[in-house]
Amino acid sequence: MVEGLEGVVAASTRLSRVDGEAGRLTIAGYDVDDLAPQATFEEVAYLLLRGRLPDPPGLAAFSLDLASRRALPPIVHDVLRAAAADGTPPMDALRMGASLLSLGRTSEAHEDALTAIAAFPTIVGSYWRYRSGSPAVSIRPELRHAAHYLHQLTGDEPSSERTRALETYLNTVVDHGLNASTFAARVIVSTRSDVISAVTGAVGALKGPLHGGAPGPALDMVFEIGSADRAEEVIRAKLDRSERLMGFGHRVYRVRDPRADVLSHAAERFYNADGERGLYDLVREVEAIALRLLRERKPHRRLDTNVEFYTALLLHGLGLPAELFTPTFAVGRVAGWAAHCLEQMRDGKLIRPQSEYVGPIGLHYQVSSLKSEVLKSET
Ligand code: COA
Repeated sequence: MVEGLEGVVAASTRLSRVDGEAGRLTIAGYDVDDLAPQATFEEVAYLLLRGRLPDPPGLAAFSLDLASRRALPPIVHDVLRAAAADGTPPMDALRMGASLLSLGRTSEAHEDALTAIAAFPTIVGSYWRYRSGSPAVSIRPELRHAAHYLHQLTGDEPSSERTRALETYLNTVVDHGLNASTFAARVIVSTRSDVISAVTGAVGALKGPLHGGAPGPALDMVFEIGSADRAEEVIRAKLDRSERLMGFGHRVYRVRDPRADVLSHAAERFYNADGERGLYDLVREVEAIALRLLRERKPHRRLDTNVEFYTALLLHGLGLPAELFTPTFAVGRVAGWAAHCLEQMRDGKLIRPQSEYVGPIGLHYQVSSLKSEVLKSET
């Protein structure tokens, strides 16, 4: 038995390859550091769904199709309003909204895949506006996917720098091998269930702090440290308390997560142009000290920076509150989930591993006298 299925190969895929030793991520043939900062999100979604980058007419038609699926059924808005009034965490609201996307439509895998990708930004954006006491904004179909998401959140049309920064982020996290949420999605469709059920389950898997829930706490640590001269003391104290440093360590990477590099470059560009360069510099210093202390404390384990550390910095720079970091991850990753669902439905077999039973055997069921009395009185 392999605890946590570590190292177990459970599917073949053409969507992405994670090379944990070399620190290399390939997305449908392209290195993430080549693709993510240059392509639009629509191009990357097309690449995952269709296996190649689109030509210009193909991209235009695909973008139009996606944009036409952005609006939500009115009842989804009702649910999001109720969730907001209740103070429901955004990932739970996204899960509720996602589950309703099959309303009023017959389920067809490609249609479901496109609808989920197109609707996630509207769900998160509308929910966030309701939470802040504002009405949802109307859909702007002419905006690029990433700009549409920022517009749904803020009501303002974002600058091209902001759109590009978010797009780089969404592309960077779009797919990543058989991570926990993608595995969950593939397991669900492997039973011949549907794509909306699968992406709904995947949202639930992504929510946990060991998967997509880490960037908020990673940024909290940087703010708690406040200035570089306090970094060593604060991080040592955390490690003394056996706390995990959020934004470090990875199940597959034994070197620096290549996505951390893409996002640190994007953050550097963005912070230079748009804001607090000081925060960027502090994050770099915190990273260096954290890595030194992790090597000192955990010499048996190669722990390095993961994607979440710079996610936090970039999304904070874009003005997103920490509560929206994981839902924004889902806005990118849903394209990967959808593509994995289609691949699993096309090529895969029911995923049904076995468990090793470690409980007792040979126990005998005995009816207690009290229970006999109850049964008698019922007859
Ligand atoms: N900070 C401190 N120690 C860490 C650590 C971290 N971020 N990540 C792993 N470790 C240590 C564990 O305490 C353990 O030490 P031990 O052997 O002395 O008990 C050892 O490394 C192995 O931990 P394990 O949980 O078995 O490794 P994993 O491969 O299952 O963990 C993560 C992968 C991502 C769950 C883990 O690194 C983690 O919790 N990171 C912080 C959360 C995070 O950033 N998540 C986002 C991932 S993209």
